[in-house]
Amino acid sequence: MIASLLYTSVAAEGLDSADVFKIVEDSSRRNPARDITGFLIFDRNRFLQYVEGPQAALDELLETLGKDKRHHSVRVLHRSQSEQRLFPRWAMRRAGANAEQELETIRAAGLPAAMMAELEGFGTRLRAA
Ligand SMILES: Cc1cc2nc3c(=O)[nH]c(=O)nc-3n(C[C@H](O)[C@H](O)[C@H](O)COP(=O)(O)O)c2cc1C
Repeated sequence: MIASLLYTSVAAEGLDSADVFKIVEDSSRRNPARDITGFLIFDRNRFLQYVEGPQAALDELLETLGKDKRHHSVRVLHRSQSEQRLFPRWAMRRAGANAEQELETIRAAGLPAAMMAELEGFGTRLRAA
């Protein structure tokens, strides 16, 4: 079984797009060893991240994330389990309002409805235009 979780956090003061670029770059380099895939959305203020992989790997990542000073107030919104990974090709992908191609993939992936609702609420414009 593949476990997944969706969380939000609040970015540290002054964190900019270059910092987020580095987070995504580092993550996509590290995640394959943990068998984690997913995506990260940054709205200048908050993060919304979806990760999927072995339960133990997600637990370990969550613990690391809790100590990372680049964000705070990590709050898990939803957890789920599925037979298959939904984003096998995304070691970690940045997604967001202007990333149409990524949003198309997310729309089509079959995320649980509760997760999709959070994404909509985050202003991700997931509805087809
Ligand atoms: C918003 C956010 C998302 C992150 N996502 C990941 C991730 O998907 N994978 C990962 O390895 N590290 C991620 N990190 C970085 C980890 O918090 C941590 O710095 C990294 O895993 C290295 O930890 P270590 O020094 O204990 O090995 C993220 C950090 C932030 C702020």
